[in-house]
Amino acid sequence: MRNPLQQFSVIAGISLLAACGGSEPQPPAEEEREAATEATASADVAEAEAPTAESASASETATLADFTPDVAHGEELFVQCQTCHVLEEGVNRIGPSLAGVIGRPAGAVEGFNYTPANADSGIVWTPEEMFRYLENPRAVIPGTNMIFVGFPDGQDRADLVAYLQASAAE
Ligand code: HEC
Repeated sequence: MRNPLQQFSVIAGISLLAACGGSEPQPPAEEEREAATEATASADVAEAEAPTAESASASETATLADFTPDVAHGEELFVQCQTCHVLEEGVNRIGPSLAGVIGRPAGAVEGFNYTPANADSGIVWTPEEMFRYLENPRAVIPGTNMIFVGFPDGQDRADLVAYLQASAAE
């Protein structure tokens, strides 16, 4: 038989859960919730940083000018974009046409339904911006619905940017 105080804390616990809402199970104590959040956060960081750990210091400081681009390799890498993008003018797939993308403002393709995050980013796709974006698109445009993890290697990004530029000149 519980004493009244224990019963009260059970009820308080239940209403706390109810107040949290949702159907997901909630950890009972504040500290545990915080610990769980921290654990998730650090797991996210670990996940985000793991593949780039070696190149992280280099890529933070690297700029497009540090690389001698290889257009042919950029073309190979573009295969990864082709699931969603083509370089033909006016052809939108999951993502907007990338015809002539270098030099144009973000969100400028007619008839493509951008997220506000992309449309209102204020970015102009200069080679340098594209280089920066392709490292981690969702960090450069938080809220974009482009699902692409990015290229941690600056050389890869430089190659792809050069390919996009070269394809526009054709
Ligand atoms: C899984 C599909 C997908 C892949 C793969 C993908 N993208 Fe995208 N991309 C999108 C979508 C969707 C958008 C529109 C994002 C928005 O509106 O938030 C977009 C937007 C963009 C934009 C902004 C265009 C503009 O007009 O503002 C650029 C630049 C871009 N992608 C480049 C690339 C490159 C380069 C690759 C390959 C490395 C790539 N994307 C891979 C789906 C994809």
